[in-house]
Amino acid sequence: MVFRDKQVVLGVTGGIAAYKAVEVLRLLVKAGAEVHVVMTRNAMEFVAPLTFQTLSGNPVHTELFSLVQERDIGHISLADRADLVLIAPATANVVGKAANGLADDLLTTTLLATKAPVLFVPAMNVNMWENPLYQENQARLEKHGYHFMTPVSGDLACGWEGQGKLPDPADIFDYAQDFIGSRDLAGRTILVTAGPTREEMDPVRFLSNHSSGKMGYAIARAARNRGARVILVSGPVQLSPPQKVDFVKVTTALEMLEAVLSRSSGADAIVKAAAVADYRPARREHLKVKKGDASEGSISLQRNPDILAELGKLKGDRVLIGFAAETNDLLVNAGKKLAEKNLDMIVANDVSMPGAGFDSDTNVVQFLHRNGQVEKLPEMSKSEVADLLVDRIVDLLAK
Ligand code: CTP
Repeated sequence: MVFRDKQVVLGVTGGIAAYKAVEVLRLLVKAGAEVHVVMTRNAMEFVAPLTFQTLSGNPVHTELFSLVQERDIGHISLADRADLVLIAPATANVVGKAANGLADDLLTTTLLATKAPVLFVPAMNVNMWENPLYQENQARLEKHGYHFMTPVSGDLACGWEGQGKLPDPADIFDYAQDFIGSRDLAGRTILVTAGPTREEMDPVRFLSNHSSGKMGYAIARAARNRGARVILVSGPVQLSPPQKVDFVKVTTALEMLEAVLSRSSGADAIVKAAAVADYRPARREHLKVKKGDASEGSISLQRNPDILAELGKLKGDRVLIGFAAETNDLLVNAGKKLAEKNLDMIVANDVSMPGAGFDSDTNVVQFLHRNGQVEKLPEMSKSEVADLLVDRIVDLLAK
């Protein structure tokens, strides 16, 4: 667990999204972090400190000069101890103060005093977010090495619609790992494909499969958290693109082929988690096909290229990892794909097993290596599988 024994200062400022910081705290604590919450005066108008205190198991810090708090921890010692300072939500006000080196409360003082990485997660009204004064403040902090997540778009609490919402707590937690864990993929480029492809037969119908993209997205996040530049080529899924990855959206297998081949030469490793449709309708009708009089119908299909096999032919010393989605004869089928597509490793996935498969948050997989070694893993979350897979990429790149 990346956060085990790590000290995180969670700064909560006064925005309506402050309630979501409770969930961020819960995720950090669950992952083993020791969390010290610092709240601004305004934040306490939105959520009671007792909530954070109960969940963190630590007193919540609110005052710059408090006899009790100063004796226990002290603002400088909070800043010194931190492995990460995470401000969620970060108001325009705290960003503005930090950008100008102001330190008029405990949180801004901690920000100025710490040498730990600082991650701001801004949330505010869209007009404030777009205001050049805010943007200049953020840019100034970024220039000095402070980090920012990007707010997401949607309905804002102020009644406006637009960019300014706090990202999902799970995404914040996930992104925060980037600053804590090992950076053993720094300088590397990892290309990941995810999701299904969709092959249209007419303007209203298509062939596709059940892939949710969750596994591929988890791999993209895990590689990013380890310092890699990540290119994520994704078919149509219901997930938001992870922050700070180069995101390429495709629909069909042919588009995925083009997107992958045109970017493969710069990649140190390629992970093909996408469930590519093996066939597409031979013709894509421009008008909706009517059922007509026939009681039965058939569609003629045409083979799609095998993207992974194409990559295997151009492999060189690039690390190549595939997935094998199987319902039977798992190891035999996966082993065949490993050899035929010239892979370093294949993730064999029995999609018919409980706890495995397409839309699940967990997976049950086995890693098959080129040298015949098989690693049978227990049921685990897709992000745990992704972390292990990234460990293997690191090993393979070191060879
Ligand atoms: N793959 C690919 N292009 C295709 C089909 C598959 O790149 N046209 C990749 C997948 O991304 C995956 C691996 O090949 O990494 C295996 O995919 P899978 O669907 O399990 O197997 P197929 O090779 O398509 O074989 P089959 O459908 O016969 O099981």
